[in-house]
Amino acid sequence: MPKIQEPEIKKPSRPASSGKSPQLLKGFRDILPPDQPYWRFVRKTAESFATGYGFEEIGLPILEETNLFVRSIGKQTDIVEKEMFSFVDKNDGNVSLRPEFTASVARSYINHGMINLPQPVKLYYFGPAFRREKPQGGRQRQFHQFGLEVIGDSSPILDAQLIAIAYNFFSQINLPDVSVQVNSIGSPESRKVYKQELVNYYRAKRKILCEDCKKRLTKNPLRLLDCKVESCQSLKAEAPQIVDWLDEESKDHFMKVIGYLDEIDIPYVLNPYLVRGLDYYTKTVFEIWPAEADSGSQSALLGGGRYDGLIEYLGGRPTPAAGFSAGVERIISYLKEKATAIPPEPLAKIFLAQIGDQAKVKALALFEQMRRENISVAENFTKDSLKSQLEIANKLKIRYVLILGQKEVVDGTVLIRDMESGIQEIIDFNKTVTEMKKKLANN
Ligand code: HAM
Repeated sequence: MPKIQEPEIKKPSRPASSGKSPQLLKGFRDILPPDQPYWRFVRKTAESFATGYGFEEIGLPILEETNLFVRSIGKQTDIVEKEMFSFVDKNDGNVSLRPEFTASVARSYINHGMINLPQPVKLYYFGPAFRREKPQGGRQRQFHQFGLEVIGDSSPILDAQLIAIAYNFFSQINLPDVSVQVNSIGSPESRKVYKQELVNYYRAKRKILCEDCKKRLTKNPLRLLDCKVESCQSLKAEAPQIVDWLDEESKDHFMKVIGYLDEIDIPYVLNPYLVRGLDYYTKTVFEIWPAEADSGSQSALLGGGRYDGLIEYLGGRPTPAAGFSAGVERIISYLKEKATAIPPEPLAKIFLAQIGDQAKVKALALFEQMRRENISVAENFTKDSLKSQLEIANKLKIRYVLILGQKEVVDGTVLIRDMESGIQEIIDFNKTVTEMKKKLANN
């Protein structure tokens, strides 16, 4: 058996023993508690939206064979060329952190014989993906995607429905100001002819092209169209447009897609320069941008399209498919930018305060009893003074504070303080749960 080569481990630039406390890696973020309500809101909305449309959740590994992504996304793409977190694993060879989910969904569809299920198979996912991009606004090295994939059907109505779902999703999360960009990049055959046309056009202007575009001429001509450098941008207007080079079938498919969109009143922009950065696409491609954005690649909230050849290319039977993924961090930034209110989360309605050692013990037991009864209750057993406990209850905007002190323990009672009216009442300790349930039901 050939010996597997051990990966060469480079020394980190800053040794662990340098005395400095460890820092976050560039492009990686902590998601702290104040941000979590946004995450829960987006995740919950995404999940109920997807299941409402008949999609089932799929869980996929974060680490896959590098080859899966090289073959699916394409060797000459930015993602595969420069952005993957890849390493050699002792047993499994070349592996990479997933830069996206579609390739894994396609692999899983083949591995689990999902072709034998009723078609199309409709799957959704939500989780982290990794791309070693230059971190800047809206670009991180670890980010999260929520996505839908429909596998096993080639009808244009599906493309239109996916675009409609994507558009409606943004209304559902209170971000209706978005712009839907659509294009068709046709079949691989028609694209080949178009690429040559594009190269001929740009080659004549080679001198003005930026260094990256000079490379794109031979490596990835379609990407010439979404270069952000001004001198290259100005050439775009005169460049041949892919729609003029579509084969009859792709043209017919695209006309039907936009016909359906018109029918269901989904506003869209026909964008002849939308080419997407992944090689597996065929026919329809689309993105959703914030309404005020003039160029998608820095700020697209969502991207997707049809990928009819991918499953066969990965070794499965010919199986058409389409889908999209949305960038969760970008959605959350946009929600914040637009100061969009997110629904308030349920807060504890009762605070249990205690004073003195005996009361602490009794309060601990009462707290557990209330939790068992599904009463949402807060506490801070480490505090001794009533004043500081009332301050916490105030901060948490809690209406009722139960107070257990030395006297209450001796009397077998508990004091209820209504923080809104300031009224206090004493009740039998053993009736606390029933009394509090009554109060909460009346509120
Ligand atoms: P994508 O356009 O590469 O497509 O990514 C989809 C979305 O993920 C983007 O629109 C953006 O919101 C977010 N995103 C991508 N890269 C980053 C990053 N570095 N930082 C923050 N957010 C980012 C795909 O991944 C395809 N798999 C979509 C698809 C599904 N096509 C068919 N099915």
